[in-house]
Amino acid sequence: MHKNRDVYAVILAGGSGTRMNSPMPKQFLTLGDAPVFVHSARKLLGDSRVKQLWIGANGDWYDLARQQVGEYIGDDARVKMCEGGADREGTLLNTLNAICENNDVGAEDIVLIHDSVRPFVTARVIGDVIREMDFCDACNTVVPVNDTIVQSADGKIISGMPVRSELFAGQSPQGFRVKTLLDAFKSLTPEERKQLTETTKVCFMKNISIHIVKGEFFNFKITTPYDWHVAQNILNYIEGWSI
Ligand code: CTP
Repeated sequence: MHKNRDVYAVILAGGSGTRMNSPMPKQFLTLGDAPVFVHSARKLLGDSRVKQLWIGANGDWYDLARQQVGEYIGDDARVKMCEGGADREGTLLNTLNAICENNDVGAEDIVLIHDSVRPFVTARVIGDVIREMDFCDACNTVVPVNDTIVQSADGKIISGMPVRSELFAGQSPQGFRVKTLLDAFKSLTPEERKQLTETTKVCFMKNISIHIVKGEFFNFKITTPYDWHVAQNILNYIEGWSI
């Protein structure tokens, strides 16, 4: 690994989980022996190269998040918290600013950004993202798409059929050079900021080359009640699962 760089990590836990329709945001629900975001955080903390892990938590549920961190993660001094933002990128910006305010971040330092609701991420994927950052300023974890993807401008008639072998679905963690990502964010016009639906898109808009790292199909994002059942079944049926 690159010798002169620090590795920071971010858990995005600022969402409200409306599609899940649960009494509290899905990242704070208990899955197996711990809240969903705790599984995700533990995976990143399992890599000793991670110097600090920032959890950007939904402000309306901040006290619960802090209590869950205390109960399930304990006193790992690498773990820090801050409030999330209005959207995923807002939460990310809050955590990046907190990282920079609390550390002397150098030009080579990198950050791994992970959705709190992807608890099945593996040490292999995390390691591959850290390794790939030796060769780029930005990278994304992806899986190939197995279904044929069709495009429809009006939702009624197919207007395009992209070549399947060139299509991938984005996951997390995503890796970025901290300074490069912050500079890219700062250079966005308000119009560009509105178009932003995905962190790697900031880099794409600014012509920063984004490498891809192989993800896992089971590193899915818990989004709906269906996903919640799948997640519970993964826990129940895969013997020896180490989350
Ligand atoms: N996220 C965040 N801050 C926000 C919105 C989303 O940190 N303001 C995080 C979520 O907590 C999650 C990830 O981004 O880890 C992906 O969010 P997603 O599931 O798409 O959105 P949610 O707001 O959580 O759910 P929904 O869209 O169903 O309301």
